[in-house]
Amino acid sequence: MGGSKVAIIGAGSVGATIAYAIMLRDVASEILLVDVAEEVVHGQVLDLSDANLITSTKVRGATYQEAGQADVIIITAGAKQKPGESRTQLIDRNYKILQSVIGAMKPIRQQSIMILISNPVDVLTHIAQQLADIPRNQVFGAGTFLDTSRLRGLLAQKLEVSANSIHAYVLGEHGDTQFVAWSSASVAGKPLLSFPEFKEGDKEIIEKKIANKAYDIIKAKGATYYGIGACTASLVEAILLDKREVRPLSVYVDSLGTVLSVPAKLGFDGIERVFDIPLNEPERTRLEESAASLKEICAKYHT
Ligand code: LAC
Repeated sequence: MGGSKVAIIGAGSVGATIAYAIMLRDVASEILLVDVAEEVVHGQVLDLSDANLITSTKVRGATYQEAGQADVIIITAGAKQKPGESRTQLIDRNYKILQSVIGAMKPIRQQSIMILISNPVDVLTHIAQQLADIPRNQVFGAGTFLDTSRLRGLLAQKLEVSANSIHAYVLGEHGDTQFVAWSSASVAGKPLLSFPEFKEGDKEIIEKKIANKAYDIIKAKGATYYGIGACTASLVEAILLDKREVRPLSVYVDSLGTVLSVPAKLGFDGIERVFDIPLNEPERTRLEESAASLKEICAKYHT
């Protein structure tokens, strides 16, 4: 474990839940919490430090400069979706916040790994790759990892197997143009579509459920944070323990000229490989449509 430091920019419900989830995994020696709302940081640190019985990870408030020197920097700062608001509608506010946050952390340590969580995560990841002055493979977003976890949860219920035994990906934008790569989904090497429990009509129902999940949660409780907290802690563990896990993450895809989620290998050095997942024609079209939609938004921010 060593002296690994994880900085979390944004000490609201998402940032604090990520901190808590990382602490429970006991993979980092210290968590640095940073936010403009210093009183919120103070309160989160007081509360989180009471978890000392079940973790050896220390947590404290820190400056943006200190955060810029951490092993892993997680950016959650920004406005969150209001009920019915799309992630894309957050871009103007969160672009400005991202600019100021990265500016305040510079010069960022050349070996740091930066994880974008703020939405719209694909566009903000693309922008952060331009602003951060660290290698592009060290700047990625959580992307459709959470959507994929939602997908595997639903399929696990249907097939009565563990979600970890299901290979299926949500790809593209972490947003309204995302899609499921059904043609490569499998359990024990058997195509998902060969299971009697899974019907053709289930595809659309499941895709809609996943795409709407965040909206449903926000409508009911105001924000989502436990799902993204667990996913982010898992990503931090993959980095610090050099686990080289393959996850759908927001990464730059050369052939599409933009950032969106495709399967990528994640280890101590960040994104170590991007996989060209086999897609059928309709899926390839959906991926290209997702890329085109994201490129249009990015073009407004000169990226
Ligand atoms: C969600 C947020 C993290 O999908 O975008 O819950």
